[in-house]
Amino acid sequence: MDKKTVVLFSGIRAEYEQKLAEQFNLIKINPKLGNITEQIQNAVKHAHGMIGAGRYLGEEQLHTAENLEIISTVSVGYDNYDVDYLKSRGIHLAHTPHVLTETTADTAWSLLMSASRRVVELDKWTRAGEWKKTVAAEQFGMDIFGKRLGIIGLGNIGAAIARRGFYGFNMDIAYYGRKEKPEIANQFNAQYLPLDELLSTSDFIVVAVDLNPHTQNLISKAQFDLMQKHAVFVNISRGAVVDEQALYQALLNKQIFAAGLDVFQKEPLTESALFELDNVVVTPHIGSATQATRDAMNKLAYENLVLQLTGKQAKYLVF
Ligand code: NDP
Ligand code: DGY
Repeated sequence: MDKKTVVLFSGIRAEYEQKLAEQFNLIKINPKLGNITEQIQNAVKHAHGMIGAGRYLGEEQLHTAENLEIISTVSVGYDNYDVDYLKSRGIHLAHTPHVLTETTADTAWSLLMSASRRVVELDKWTRAGEWKKTVAAEQFGMDIFGKRLGIIGLGNIGAAIARRGFYGFNMDIAYYGRKEKPEIANQFNAQYLPLDELLSTSDFIVVAVDLNPHTQNLISKAQFDLMQKHAVFVNISRGAVVDEQALYQALLNKQIFAAGLDVFQKEPLTESALFELDNVVVTPHIGSATQATRDAMNKLAYENLVLQLTGKQAKYLVF
């Protein structure tokens, strides 16, 4: 039987690229070879599967595809795929939940702790030779232990963040979502609150929703206006969930204490007014970026693709 064709649209671990090349006709999209959209349009014409991450895929890129069965994304988030278009074409989408949950929760906590205790700002201050006497009240941070942690989106990652707060820091956990989730919330005594109440009563607010039409700009000026002056805000979900200009103003005006951000409206981000502020800690979308977790994501995405293309079902189909 003829081999099926697979398009690799971003880098994947060498081990899985090699396996793909053995099992399929593998076409690699290479940014060095010019226009990516044109490369994809040509490559997908006779492709059955696609695997990769970090590229927008919609009608413009995929309209030439005649046999495409599945896109396997090496990510849990799938907001950069035109879901309506894929569904209209009967193209399946698989993703990589669970294997990155704990690592991403660790990232959220790194941001929460470093923003609260001003780790980055005081690291720079120390290296600059400013430590001539003991720090003064202007440099004090915020206590974490025993405070209220408000989670927006009690999904897999939101729950893992909450668990750390409850068991590790004796925190009072509040959460907001589309619906109450008692079976998860009871594990760490979390209380469901309307969004406004969560924002106005939490000491720490962490955004862990997926990006969808309902969560776009979920946190805008009106929501920052509700937060407490000592609140620390963390976003590990997607940049577009937060109105970045409103966040900037809230930080500039010391309307909230600090923020920790792993995701931004524009990525990669090389310039931003946020970079000028001391009360924000920024990381370059590293939520899942450990070797073990990225390996697990690559493996799962590879398995999803192969299962679907060999007549079985991918482990984690979005649809
Ligand atoms: P889940 O699907 O388990 O969690 C998403 C949560 O968001 C669910 O609880 C969902 O509610 C909630 N949600 C969705 N829409 C709304 C809404 N309108 N209002 C309130 N809550 C809503 O996914 P994960 O926890 O695995 O991942 C979450 C997101 O984190 C990913 O989609 C991705 O964007 C981001 N992420 C970022 C990483 C990084 O590197 N910074 C790494 C990994 C993930 P419900 O339970 O009702 O479905
Ligand atoms: C995810 O898996 O959604 C992370 O954001 C990495 O892209």
